Amino acid sequence: MRVSIADIRTFKQKGEKFVMLTAYDYSTARIVDEAGIPLVLVGDSLGMVVLGYDSTIPVTMEEMLHHTRAVVRGCKRALVVGDMPFMTYHVSVGEGLRNAARFIQEGNAQAVKLEGGERMAETVRRVVECGIPVMGHIGLTPQSIHQLGGFKVQGRTPEAAAQLLKDAQALEQAGAFAVVLESVPFSLARLITQKVGIPTIGIGAGPGCDGQVQVVNDMLGLFPDFVPRHAKQYARLGDIIRQAVTDYATEVKSGTFPTEKHSYAMDEALLAELAGTA
Ligand code: KIV
Repeated sequence: MRVSIADIRTFKQKGEKFVMLTAYDYSTARIVDEAGIPLVLVGDSLGMVVLGYDSTIPVTMEEMLHHTRAVVRGCKRALVVGDMPFMTYHVSVGEGLRNAARFIQEGNAQAVKLEGGERMAETVRRVVECGIPVMGHIGLTPQSIHQLGGFKVQGRTPEAAAQLLKDAQALEQAGAFAVVLESVPFSLARLITQKVGIPTIGIGAGPGCDGQVQVVNDMLGLFPDFVPRHAKQYARLGDIIRQAVTDYATEVKSGTFPTEKHSYAMDEALLAELAGTA
C-alpha cells in the first residue's frame, strides 16, 4: 500500500526519523522506491541537476509534469510530491490551486510542495481544503535566490529566526502536512521542530529535524558543477560512469566489443543462399 500523509505524521508522533529523496526519472524512482524510501520529491532542482539551468527559476509546469509522471510510474509504494515551479502559485490563490491540481490530475502525484511560509498560508489553506496535501518549504527558498542574494544560510538574525518560526507555524495552521527547512542553523531547526506539530524535513538544517531530504544527484556524486556543504556523497557514480564510458569506447575501437555473445546468430543455410554460395 502507498505511504500516506498520515504515515508521515506518525513518524513524528513516534519519534522515528525518516527520509525523503528527490528523483526525476523512472529508473531512479524505481531504485529509490525499492530501497523503501517513503517520500519521493520531484524537486524543481531538476532544473539544475537534470536540465543544466543555473537556477530553478526557468523550470516550467510542463517540465515538472513530464518528470513527475515518470517518477510516479517508478514508485509503487512511496508518496510522490511534485514541486510547484516559480510563478505558478504566486500571482493568485486561484492560479496556485489550478496548478496544484495539475500535479495531481496530470502528474499523478499524491502531494505538492511550494516555497514560502506566512505569505503563502492562504494558498496552502485553499489547496488543502480542495483535498491536495501540501508540503511547505522555508529557510533558503531557491526560487527567491535573487531576493536572498545567493544560496545563503537563513535565520541568523533574531528577526529572521523569529520569522522562520512564525512561517512554520503559519504553514501548520494552514494545513500543510510537513515542512522542509533548508539551510537553517541546526539549533533553530531543532527549536522549530519542537514547536510545530507537523514533521520538519531538513536539508542543511542539522540532525534535530524529524526527517532529512537530499538531492539524489548530490548524494550519488552525479552532479559535477558543485557539491553543497550540506550534501554527503554516499557514492561517486559520476566517476564510475566516466570510467564505464571510456572502457566502452576503448573496447569498440580495439574490436573487443561487441563479441558474438552480444550479437544475434542467423541460420547459416539462409545466409549462404543470400550470399549466393549455397
Ligand atoms: O527542489 C528540490 O530538490 C528541493 C529540495 C532541496 C527540498 O526543494
